[in-house]
Order: sequence, then C-alpha cells, then structure tokens
Amino acid sequence: MTFDLFDNLPDYDRDGGISSEPLAPGASVLRRFARAQAGALLDVVAGVAAVAPFRHLVTPGGRRMSVAMTNCGRLGWVSDRQGYRYDPVDPATGLHWPAMPRAFAVLARDAAAAAGYPDFTPDACLINRYLPGTRLSLHQDRDELDVRAPIVSVSLGVPAVFLFGGLRRADRPARIRVIHGDVVVWGGPSRLAFHGIAPLAQADHPLTGDTRINLTFRKAG
Ligand code: SIN
Ligand code: FE2
Repeated sequence: MTFDLFDNLPDYDRDGGISSEPLAPGASVLRRFARAQAGALLDVVAGVAAVAPFRHLVTPGGRRMSVAMTNCGRLGWVSDRQGYRYDPVDPATGLHWPAMPRAFAVLARDAAAAAGYPDFTPDACLINRYLPGTRLSLHQDRDELDVRAPIVSVSLGVPAVFLFGGLRRADRPARIRVIHGDVVVWGGPSRLAFHGIAPLAQADHPLTGDTRINLTFRKAG
C-alpha cells in the first residue's frame, strides 16, 4: 500500500534537498544524492538485467543467497562453491558483463567526492535486488585488491534498514533507514566495516513496486 511507505517517510524526505550525515569515521550518508536521476538509473538497471539477468548466487558454503544479483562494469562480483571473486565474464552467459554506464560512473564519482574521496573510478557495479523478506547478513567487502578506494552504495525503490557496524563482526551495528535516492559512502577507517541489510519490509514504491534495488560501486581490480 503506497500510503504505508509515504506515511513513514523520515523528516529529511518531507522537504529539502541533498544533505550529508556522518555515519562513522570515513563514512557518510548522502541523503537524496541520487534522487534526481533515480528513474533513469532504474531504466539502466533494466537494460543491464536484459543482458545479464538477476540470479541467486550460491555461497561457498552452499547456501542460496536471498538477494538476487547481477553486475556491470569491467569486473563482476560472483560467488559459487569455489568462493567469492571478481570475474570479467558472467558465468551465467559466458559473456563479459555489460559495460559501466556513464551515468553510473559519474554518479559514483560525484558521490565519492562529496563524501571526501576524490577521483573514485569504479570498475565494478554490483546490482542487488531485494523483495519483501530478502536480507543481506553482516559482511565485509574485502574481495577487492585495493581497499584504499571507498564503497559507494545507492538505494533505489523500497526503503531498507542498512546495518552499519564496526571492524569486528560482534560490534553492534547502527540501523540506518535508507530510501530511494540515498547514497552511503564508506572508506578510509571504515572501509572494512561490517554491514548488511535487515529483512526488507513489504511496501509499494511508485517506480519499483515491492522491490528495492541497490547499486554498489567498487574499485575491484
Ligand atoms: C552490499 O553490501 O553489497 C549491498 C548493501 C545494500 O544493499 O545496501
Ligand atoms: Fe557489502
């Protein structure tokens, strides 16, 4: 029901434009940063998924991930029984991943710069799709060769609770509500922070229905 989503909008979304909230040393939430181009970003996601379909990857332990994933950019993040890795080829199609769309690269670069990380040039964009009940358990992004570059994470569609912890799995994570157009950037002392997504609530977004899409930009290679 649409009114559920909009009744619960946080204050920052009722008025005002882009704003930045500190999250942890080296990490910030850029509220509404991608809002203006969000519809166009979703169209691009549909184009990527037409070539490299969303799929549920299997963890090295043999569990099917509840998040559906695809990638664009020179490298794509994949998981299977052999482990996690970045691969230039989509194992589902045998083709290279679709190229990084220019609009994606520009957004990621601008968001990183706004958060204090100039010259971010991502070579990987992981696209995550969440349906009601989908969650992503706490993890670190540490499959990238060079962790000097930050992570830029764009939320589209249905709101979610982003969990942002510390450098130890046991550190109790902060719970941050992220909505359509919000961007979270973490790097520097927070680059290896544990993070995840709480089970997605049922909601109805005008552009995505019951779905949340996340774009995670990384310098992987
Ligand atoms: C991720 O950690 O890969 C995705 C986080 C998110 O969906 O916001
Ligand atoms: Fe992650």
